[in-house]
Amino acid sequence: MTRRIHALPSQLVDQIAAGEVVERPASVIKELVENSLDAGASRVEVEVERGGIKRMRVRDDGTGIAREDLALALSRHATSKIATLEDLDGIATLGFRGEALPSIASVSRLTLVSRTPEAENAWRIDGGEETPSPAAHPPGTSVEVRDLFYNVPARRKFLKTEKTEFRHVEQLLRRLALARFDVAFSLRHNGRELFALRRAEERRGREARLATLLGSAFVENSLHLDHAAAGLSLRGWVGLPTFSRSQPDLQHFYVNGRLVRDKLVTHAVRQAYQDVLYHGRHPAYVLYLEIDPRQVDVNVHPTKHEVRFRESRLVHDFIFRTLHQVLADLRPGEQGAGREPAAAVAAPGAVEATSPPVREVGFRQSSLGLPVRESPAAYEASFAWQQPSDRGRMPTPAAEAAGEEVPPLGFALGQLHGVYVLAQNREGLVLVDMHAAHERITYERLKQALQAQGIRSQPLLVPLAVKVSPGEAELAESHQAFMAELGLEVDRIDRETLVVRAIPALLEGADVEQLLRDLLSELAEYGESSRLRAAINEVLATMACHGSVRANRRLTLEEMNALLRDVEATERSGQCNHGRPTWARLTLEELDRLFLRGR
Ligand SMILES: Nc1ncnc2c1ncn2[C@@H]1O[C@H](COP(=O)(O)OP(=O)(O)OP(=O)(O)O)[C@@H](O)[C@H]1O
Ligand SMILES: [Mg+2]
Repeated sequence: MTRRIHALPSQLVDQIAAGEVVERPASVIKELVENSLDAGASRVEVEVERGGIKRMRVRDDGTGIAREDLALALSRHATSKIATLEDLDGIATLGFRGEALPSIASVSRLTLVSRTPEAENAWRIDGGEETPSPAAHPPGTSVEVRDLFYNVPARRKFLKTEKTEFRHVEQLLRRLALARFDVAFSLRHNGRELFALRRAEERRGREARLATLLGSAFVENSLHLDHAAAGLSLRGWVGLPTFSRSQPDLQHFYVNGRLVRDKLVTHAVRQAYQDVLYHGRHPAYVLYLEIDPRQVDVNVHPTKHEVRFRESRLVHDFIFRTLHQVLADLRPGEQGAGREPAAAVAAPGAVEATSPPVREVGFRQSSLGLPVRESPAAYEASFAWQQPSDRGRMPTPAAEAAGEEVPPLGFALGQLHGVYVLAQNREGLVLVDMHAAHERITYERLKQALQAQGIRSQPLLVPLAVKVSPGEAELAESHQAFMAELGLEVDRIDRETLVVRAIPALLEGADVEQLLRDLLSELAEYGESSRLRAAINEVLATMACHGSVRANRRLTLEEMNALLRDVEATERSGQCNHGRPTWARLTLEELDRLFLRGR
């Protein structure tokens, strides 16, 4: 039997559309708060009852909706935010689909109360009604949503407990509140206030909000950055590598104020941390990317969590390089004991984001200005501090008294249990884990040496044929030079076959086929890949670990001082190759507190 075709009733159409954006109370809150932000609100109050399932209300002091537009706001495809196809090309608001309110109204009991600044009184409309009635409300808008999914039992079944649903609401509002420091936010659940955040224009106020929302440990263990180049800007806070997490739960990324979860972004950040994080650990960050709205497509997914960058490669590169540099600059002289946020790495906007040497992107030079020694025999040289040398003959605490400059990690006092070097600097006591510190120094030197000399390539006795898709084969062809630079020689011999002829000598015995496949899939997705470099670095790290000074080795004071100077001069020296800290500091104040000593 042929089924007849018929148009669906509009209520059902709305309910189907609601399925895309309204999954649970938290998704309603997201839509309503985004509307408030689009309306230029400077304060947003959220009230929730029973996890939001019973009642949610979002109230703002934004521009409001005129009486004659109220019914329209609740009808499908009605929006004040875009009008033409061109508008879709450069969306500057959070919403633009004109679907959120009608969708929510179709699966709940919704009331909209609003007043424009010019109006004498507010007007109210209930979902499904045509004519507004007068109401009392200050300029701004309140949207109340009761009994979510009361008419969609299938959806209601998927709701979790009130407690869980509220946790989602809370988490979401925290994320939204991080997007806009210039807006005050508050949240109440069952009459109890969870938080009330004041507007914060200054960095201190912003960090206070960060501490309230994410915990003070994050603020204490993160670096602040602010960098712009090539029409892009990246600001925010990145956690120190030693503040890594077992879950990717402290990762917040905003593109033009929009909360996104983006694969490209995640990948770029991961890559920047690659060298300084323990395997399987996740970095913590709150980052804001500003980009010309025409360069980013937000019309990818109804919930707008994903975005597409027109110049994805440029964006990836910009994020990676910016963070990589911030992390490389992490040295004793740059910030307190790795705790106080470092001064912003402000930069001029004129430099190309893609210019290769990262140093040129306009970052602050190390305050120490010491270059890391680039010796071809770096591996050997890395042990140089173990022999008394000129570098070892450093000023001593006595020299300090004579008014000489004290280096950030100070001067060595002695060795503790053959594991730690104790040193004195201006602020107090410095403790250095000998092995961890030396390991990082050796590793950075190995990398430098490799860079200076080029990576040695070793021909395979039997070239390895790898079957790939035609697309991958093309990709390999176009990146042949890039791979050869890293010691991987690959030729395409037919439509779907690549042949590996030589590999980096350091990777002898590695699973070459797997490496090539991973490399190609990353190249396809992000336009670049760090797989090969990562694999090489892993080998270097192992070499560094075995080549580094072991515990229980007696060092002379000169050797210790030389080690301290090397730590100061080495990139990423705040942590060893496994992400463990290499040094710590106890200030005199902290010591005084330890001994209950007033000053
Ligand atoms: N809090 C508010 N203050 C002022 N106007 C509002 C508010 N909430 C909604 N509106 C108006 O109602 C319209 C419809 O809102 P709705 O959320 O349904 O669509 P949208 O925000 O335009 O697009 P999207 O579906 O992508 O969210 C908006 O375009 C806006 O003009
Ligand atoms: Mg909206």
